[in-house]
Amino acid sequence: MYYIGIDLGTSAVKLLLMKGDGSIEKISNREYPLYFPKTGWSEQNAEDWITAVKDGLRELLSGIDRSEVAGIGAGGQMHGLVILDEDDRVIRPVILWNDGRTQEETDWLNHEIGEDVLGRETANIAFAGFTAPKILWVKNHEPENFRRIAKIMLPKDYVNYVLTGAFATEYSDASGMLLLNVENKCWSKKMLEICGITENQLPKLYESYEVVGTLKPEIAEELGLPETVKVVAGAGDNAAAAVGTGTVGPDQCNVSLGTSGTMFISSRTFKNPENHAIHSFAHADGTWHLMACMLSAASGNKWWNEEILGTDDYNKEQEGIAEHLGDNEVFYTPYLMGERFPHNDTKVRAMFIGMSMNTTRRDMTQAVLEGVAFSFRDALEVAKELGIDLKRTKICGGGAKSPLWRRIIANVLNLPVDMIESEQGPGLGGAMLAAVGCGEYASVEAAADAIVRVVGTVEPEPELVKKYDEKYQTYRKLYPAVKELFR
Ligand code: XUL
Repeated sequence: MYYIGIDLGTSAVKLLLMKGDGSIEKISNREYPLYFPKTGWSEQNAEDWITAVKDGLRELLSGIDRSEVAGIGAGGQMHGLVILDEDDRVIRPVILWNDGRTQEETDWLNHEIGEDVLGRETANIAFAGFTAPKILWVKNHEPENFRRIAKIMLPKDYVNYVLTGAFATEYSDASGMLLLNVENKCWSKKMLEICGITENQLPKLYESYEVVGTLKPEIAEELGLPETVKVVAGAGDNAAAAVGTGTVGPDQCNVSLGTSGTMFISSRTFKNPENHAIHSFAHADGTWHLMACMLSAASGNKWWNEEILGTDDYNKEQEGIAEHLGDNEVFYTPYLMGERFPHNDTKVRAMFIGMSMNTTRRDMTQAVLEGVAFSFRDALEVAKELGIDLKRTKICGGGAKSPLWRRIIANVLNLPVDMIESEQGPGLGGAMLAAVGCGEYASVEAAADAIVRVVGTVEPEPELVKKYDEKYQTYRKLYPAVKELFR
């Protein structure tokens, strides 16, 4: 049988067709626009996702025996606020995970409601990108739209809703709404009350691998698929990517170098860290995880290459850097969209610092790659403070295709970095969840054991580890030294 994985990303949707044994038969991609209507705002049209998903599915399925398709599972960009009125019309453009407009609502939640209340109710505090501050923003700034809300959804839940008609979500993505009691896996009545919403405006909660419905007859007909195709609840993109890299089980780590950068640590038990800079969320395998999210990772490298240097030949820009690792005098902080982890600061912006007359273009490209790696190191330090002793990490995402960037990360983190055979990120995780939901595998862990294979490891090099450790000590002083400049 075939399983379709949907990776509903920020710049594009990537679809893949997986056979029951985990091998990938076919892939398709469709881009859609991202809008920045004001500084710090970030929006998308939900309809663009649907057009892209349908077009991508048509391409994916051409020449395929469609009667063999058993299930669909999506991993989606997290936190985005999709609101529908009672006629199922999308009320306004989706406010995305990397949108920074909600600083006031975020501060109100953290300071007036209080981090202790939020921590107790949800295991997290408010970040501008989370969904609850966005709901409050709509309530405060667009009261007419707020009054019309009949359904509140996350991005991939909207795709599932269009495909099946099921108003559903699951615990991994719902964790990032700041409305879920993550430990007990239910909506927090207190948080709903704080946001002025009711439970019937929210989707029904599932585990990621549970089936929420089958294709609507008209959708099945439009796509030429059987009406029996099952759609599972899916997962937030990071949890889905973690499934796709086999990051399940105790204290496993995955570094994702996508538009955002995340360090994802799986855990069999629920954790409510005192330092809420790191998120405590439910995992797609039925357990929990910790996650640090940096807003601009591979997107920062894209910005630097394409917007500033005017090239899309990233490899050429990275030539010659390998001989200078650990010796760069230039630092870069990757806060292009403000930063979530570890500063929770929407106002801060990226910086280059330490240039001299000898500084080259190459040094600055190197600084961009290193700055993101240092940000991951910040996450590793928090994990250590929590008593988590990571032995190695996996890596995924577009940026992970660069051998140089992988090497920098291995040395900055002082961890062996494992590469997996089929680096397909959230799409593969989505298809694996669908396979579990359709009974092909007994559990997510069983699917990961059968499907995911490590094909290479980048080992840290002691000399470089030492040099980078010294550089990191300087890097971590940069934000405290400049943060007031951005107020
Ligand atoms: C995670 C987060 C991002 C988005 C990117 O908290 O905001 O990783 O999910 O798609």
